[in-house]
Amino acid sequence: MSGLIIAIDGPSGSGKSSTSRGVARRLGLHYVDTGAMYRAMTWWMLEQGVDVDDPEAVAARCGEPVIVLRDDPTDPGVSVDDQDVSADIRDAAVADAVSRVAAVPEVRERLVRSQRSMVDAAITAGTGVVMEGRDIGTVVLPGADLKIYLTADVEARAARRALEEAERSGRGSVASAHANLESRDALDTTRTVSPLQQAADAIAIDGTHLSLDEVIDAVIRALPPDAQ
Ligand code: DC
Repeated sequence: MSGLIIAIDGPSGSGKSSTSRGVARRLGLHYVDTGAMYRAMTWWMLEQGVDVDDPEAVAARCGEPVIVLRDDPTDPGVSVDDQDVSADIRDAAVADAVSRVAAVPEVRERLVRSQRSMVDAAITAGTGVVMEGRDIGTVVLPGADLKIYLTADVEARAARRALEEAERSGRGSVASAHANLESRDALDTTRTVSPLQQAADAIAIDGTHLSLDEVIDAVIRALPPDAQ
């Protein structure tokens, strides 16, 4: 659908990524996973030995890595300086550090600029985007055609994250996923710059008791009639 812009925000593990990819596939839109960009930045900081607890050090170096996101919903991924890091950014070390890197204003400024230019590129290519993150409806794309705020109970989110981790690494614990989600939620919702919050004009969907297809259907039903 040409020019259509959909923003999907919500906490970690709410099913944003699967939902956003599914919606993008069904509607033929590009898919922009902004969390992958913050994770790629964090991966690079850790690789370089930058102290992620020192916001000034992170700010000073965040202009260096070249982060390129693949926005094809059937084959998403991310590279840093031409190295594909799509798997590495899911490591526990990155998950533990990413909220601290994402709280640095200079990091956000740089990545938001690149996110907006991906929208321009999609529109130039004759299509639109589904962009997912924490601040998409509130900060990155306040004029989006549709804003969704996707939530789920923390138990449901931890179970989903543990299952993903088990599929990826053969090990996955609900207790540790629960702890990681709670600490990330706390950091993401209380940071000073662009905290996770529902935009005033966003439609909230609680996915706790819904299947993936049901959530995708709910998003598509929320579109203006001429865009469905
Ligand atoms: O969606 P995710 O779990 O891959 O996101 C990783 C981290 O990046 C998460 O802790 C919050 C941060 N993030 C953010 O601050 N702003 C965004 N637009 C997307 C993600």
